Amino acid sequence: MPATAIAFDRYSQLQDDDCEERILAAKKDLGSRAVILGHHYQRADVYKHADLTGDSLRLSKLSGSTDAEFVVFCGVHFMAEVADIMGKPGQVVVLPDMAAGCSMADMASLPKVERAWRELSEVLDPDEKVTPVTYINSAADLKAFCGEHGGIVCTSSNAGKILDWSFARREKVLFFPDQHLGRWSGYKMGIPLEQMQVWDPDEPMGGLTPEQIRDARILLWKGHCSVHQMFQPQHILKFRNQHPDGIVISHPECKFEVCKLSDYVGSTDTIIKTIAAAPENTRWLVGTELNLVNRIAGEFKPQGKQIQFMSPVVCMCSTMARIDPQHLAWTLENLVQGRVVNQIKVPQGDADLARVALERMLAVS
Ligand code: 13P
Ligand code: SF4
Repeated sequence: MPATAIAFDRYSQLQDDDCEERILAAKKDLGSRAVILGHHYQRADVYKHADLTGDSLRLSKLSGSTDAEFVVFCGVHFMAEVADIMGKPGQVVVLPDMAAGCSMADMASLPKVERAWRELSEVLDPDEKVTPVTYINSAADLKAFCGEHGGIVCTSSNAGKILDWSFARREKVLFFPDQHLGRWSGYKMGIPLEQMQVWDPDEPMGGLTPEQIRDARILLWKGHCSVHQMFQPQHILKFRNQHPDGIVISHPECKFEVCKLSDYVGSTDTIIKTIAAAPENTRWLVGTELNLVNRIAGEFKPQGKQIQFMSPVVCMCSTMARIDPQHLAWTLENLVQGRVVNQIKVPQGDADLARVALERMLAVS
């Protein structure tokens, strides 16, 4: 065994084909000791090595169900944190590239959420009146905040049910960090738009008056996914004009106007399942990340389904794409040699409280 981990430098210049061989050999060596989880947005040359794939809800369930010693997470940082929190004792979670974050998750931080809670307490008692709901796309300490304050985690698959759960307990919700998922989910459950106010964490009192706070049912954190903001209503209108029989499906991280113009709105798993269940020879416009759209376009082509990406410009999740064959080969070969690189370990206190909020979510969904 080498005294120290093999440095990544030696892998950065490797060709993808070399990496492919190395990944396959390392997987064979590790056998059942390692499991590779892959989110739908992973690039094709990484995704194909995943043993288990899914959207963030499915992956959060799967992460607790595997007995492997090592969970190699091909996704982004918050997903690997969830795998660590929900994993079995002693299980080691690794993220092949630590730079694989989520820019939306970074739009909310614990100090800012704690400040919002303090500011809200100038108007009402938040622990009595407000359920904090964090989208799974958030750091572990924010999930812990929700666990501690009677709150819960949601994903894009279950946000509606989670809002029902929240309103059954308290009259308002503070929803972070994605305003778009929060707005769409609130709208779908019948909450008027004027009862959903944007909380700007960079403004005192979120930029709201005490009256606006008192009247709001959902306070929507001013955060967004840059990838999903690329999709515009005019893309849908143009598609409908060219293909009146075409069907539009979008991820709920898209703008409200895009969701409203879509025939279906759902998580990455829902998008795949909806198109899979549709009749042959249907035509689709899909508003979500490019790697997923390209993959399903190929998969469903034999059924005559034509799948088109919603934006005319290429928009990929650049942080998801940080996980490349070079980093995967590096991670796995270190594991083969008995070295763990890039372990994701959530501090115990945060993990315990975050697990409370995640388990509430899993019980509801
Ligand atoms: P899903 O919950 O659909 O997997 O979405 C995760 C995500 O990051 C979308 O941008
Ligand atoms: Fe985060 Fe958006 Fe990438 Fe999803 S697509 S991981 S929300 S930056």
